[in-house]
Amino acid sequence: MNYSFDRIIDRRNTRSYKWDQNEKLFGEPDVLPLWVADMDFPSPPAVKEVLKQRADLGMYGYAIRTDSYFEAIVNWFRDRHQWEIQPDWITDSPSIVTSLSLAVELFSEPGAPVVIQTPVYYPFYDVIESNGRKVAKNSLLLRNGRFEMDYEHLESLFQEGAKLLLLCSPHNPGGRVWEREELQQLGELCLKYQVTVVSDEIHCDLTFPGHKHTPFATLSPEIADITVSCLAATKTFNLPGLHTSFIVATNANLRRKMARRLQTLSLHMASHFAQDAVEAAYRNGADWLDEMMAYVQGNLEYAIDYLGSNLPQVKPLRPDGTYLLWLDCRELGLDAKGLKHLMYNKAKVAFNEGSVFGTEGAGWLRINLACPRSILEQALKQFCDAANANE
Ligand SMILES: Cc1ncc(COP(=O)(O)O)c(C=O)c1O
Repeated sequence: MNYSFDRIIDRRNTRSYKWDQNEKLFGEPDVLPLWVADMDFPSPPAVKEVLKQRADLGMYGYAIRTDSYFEAIVNWFRDRHQWEIQPDWITDSPSIVTSLSLAVELFSEPGAPVVIQTPVYYPFYDVIESNGRKVAKNSLLLRNGRFEMDYEHLESLFQEGAKLLLLCSPHNPGGRVWEREELQQLGELCLKYQVTVVSDEIHCDLTFPGHKHTPFATLSPEIADITVSCLAATKTFNLPGLHTSFIVATNANLRRKMARRLQTLSLHMASHFAQDAVEAAYRNGADWLDEMMAYVQGNLEYAIDYLGSNLPQVKPLRPDGTYLLWLDCRELGLDAKGLKHLMYNKAKVAFNEGSVFGTEGAGWLRINLACPRSILEQALKQFCDAANANE
């Protein structure tokens, strides 16, 4: 191992969304936070190095995007995902959620249904509803301890007129890395009903051995033609506070519409820091990523074993990827309020309460595993002890 993921770095009082909101969100100062999806690991050293160099320059004027930045993206997706992206298919966007929201605005009509497969990352609901569209739910099916897509119900939504689908691939929560055949079946349905697919692939690099991410747009040129892929280095390398992402679209019409809207809102300008970090991470972060995922896999095994031995009523869904663990706590018999009380006030831990991901998530919790093992051990012990005392 070249990197020490066991090292605890105190993030309190660093303006951290995860560590500096305990009182405000949970009403308790000393809660261990394993919720929002950022990691308690420093980014690859090459990232810190370029950011230091940039800071040392002391001048932070307007930036351009360089060929070398686009080349780093292209090389990464070729090497890791066997996806040959042309640089001119890429358009930067401040964040994935920005892209999702703009896509809803541009590729659906006011009041129209937009399909999501639930439970799902909660901003998927927000971007639909805040744009005055209707959520059309295709609930995922829980079969043999993993989520599957319900193609029959999906087809009925398309028959009723839905023309836009927001795909979460890999899936958050639940950690499915959709298999090629599953995506192919989805893609064929979308082609049949002329549905545009906005594919959020922010978790694409976070896969465990035996699971391979398939970029939706690589399934066929026809499928690529109806797809806007939303990508970022931010989840992969723990850069989300730098607020940067990009979209890839082979279809010039879809791409131009997105680019034009980004420009209209003046969201198109480049950031020095974000661009330096993304390029350095893609060029020099592969070893770090592989070690980080091996460490997270160790955390996953630890969590599954510990929960199995100490609180067998709760049942984790083994993820194919992501650093998130979706935990079935329904046998504890607690509603959302009860689960929050158990976590925040009794166990002094903060996982995500599941119902924010949709009604299917009631009785579930989501644990962020991207932290030093000792923090995970402490959090699981506190949670299991409190749950057992609650019985
Ligand atoms: C599926 C998914 N999409 C998007 C995001 C956030 O991306 P951004 O910060 O670029 O909006 C997350 C963060 O957890 C996520 O899990």
